[in-house]
Amino acid sequence: MSSETELPFGVYVHWPFCRAKCPYCDFNSHVRHGGIDEARFLAGYLRELAHFASLAPGRNVSSIFFGGGTPSLMSPSTVAAILDAIAGHWRAADDAEITLEANPTSVEAENFAGYRAAGVNRLSLGVQALDDADLKALGRRHSADEALAALALAKHHFGRVSFDLIYAREGQSARHWEQELRRALDHAADHLSLYQLTIEDGTPFAARHAAGSLRIPDGEQASELYQLTQELCEAAGLPAYEVSNHARPGSESRHNLLYWRGHDYAGIGPGAHSRVAIDGTKHALSAIKSPEFWLAEVEARGHGLIGDETLSAEELADEYLLMGLRLSEGIDLALLASIGGRALDSKKVSALASEGLVERNGERLAATHKGRLVLNSLILELAA
Ligand SMILES: C[S@@+](CC[C@H](N)C(=O)[O-])C[C@H]1O[C@@H](n2cnc3c(N)ncnc32)[C@H](O)[C@@H]1O
Ligand code: SF4
Repeated sequence: MSSETELPFGVYVHWPFCRAKCPYCDFNSHVRHGGIDEARFLAGYLRELAHFASLAPGRNVSSIFFGGGTPSLMSPSTVAAILDAIAGHWRAADDAEITLEANPTSVEAENFAGYRAAGVNRLSLGVQALDDADLKALGRRHSADEALAALALAKHHFGRVSFDLIYAREGQSARHWEQELRRALDHAADHLSLYQLTIEDGTPFAARHAAGSLRIPDGEQASELYQLTQELCEAAGLPAYEVSNHARPGSESRHNLLYWRGHDYAGIGPGAHSRVAIDGTKHALSAIKSPEFWLAEVEARGHGLIGDETLSAEELADEYLLMGLRLSEGIDLALLASIGGRALDSKKVSALASEGLVERNGERLAATHKGRLVLNSLILELAA
């Protein structure tokens, strides 16, 4: 048995459709007012899954994640058929974590029982804000009350529930965020994703930001909001295990951890990315982003992949450093050296530690809260 078959293996399923496009979002998501042929897309997903099973046979699936776009627009029978196919191609652990991302509108909440029956055991809700005016400004199609009702229903159906909030929004003061986050923590189950608003190129928010009509907290103000987030979440028993992800200890998302720990995953669907070892070499694969072109390719040749890059030892080590330092647990220095064939410069590590940016704990190295605020430059410094 090769070692890969014993390591965690994830399956990511990308559903690229949304009811409306939010003005801040640059995910691969599309609105199709004329509707889509869900049965035809399902057949495409099943074919692409079979392709991945032939590339990476014999794996033990430890987590599955339906992301988007808006996977809560999929009918429960589509989700069930994909889960059955995954179980048919690979061994799925009895306790595999199966997450679905849902938008918290009442229409989508009607599907929750169906997703649970299909095998989903964790729901991740895109609440984004608990303030109706701000939800409107974010282009969301639900109110705070509707989101809280969806959250209550999610907690009723699923053993594990997470929700997302976006902070550092237009005009948001530390006081406003503190009140909102305290309220969110009162409703939190076992996991929260708290993202600082990012202005993504090519989005309506980017145009407004460039024109000066959208001002968001940055620099000092954003750092203050980040520190406040850490303090309130820690005090509530949901410390950060990653830059933007908080959980009760033991309830971390196993699928997220798998990405950040550098394990393999197969990404199915338009625009999905994969990292899979094939015959001992790690491949970075990517699929066509346009849903219709992807589907046409899958129907013609069994998959919609367009990119296939093999990763060198150095690239793999850089990726492990980049991903691992996002985690509170940090990286395993011996593992990093064995991946890349060389150890980190110990003088650099000591200098960064004396500046309070990293912390060494035996064979592990982690970024401190202060280090996470300047994570990109920290990683560049270590990787140089
Ligand atoms: C794939 S998206 C959304 C899933 C789902 N469609 C929804 O909107 O609820 C995952 C999460 O990324 C976050 N996100 C998307 N764009 C962002 C941005 N520009 N800045 C910060 N967070 C963002 C949102 O919190 C969102 O819930
Ligand atoms: S935030 Fe969610 S609902 Fe909004 S466009 Fe992005 S993926 Fe779609």
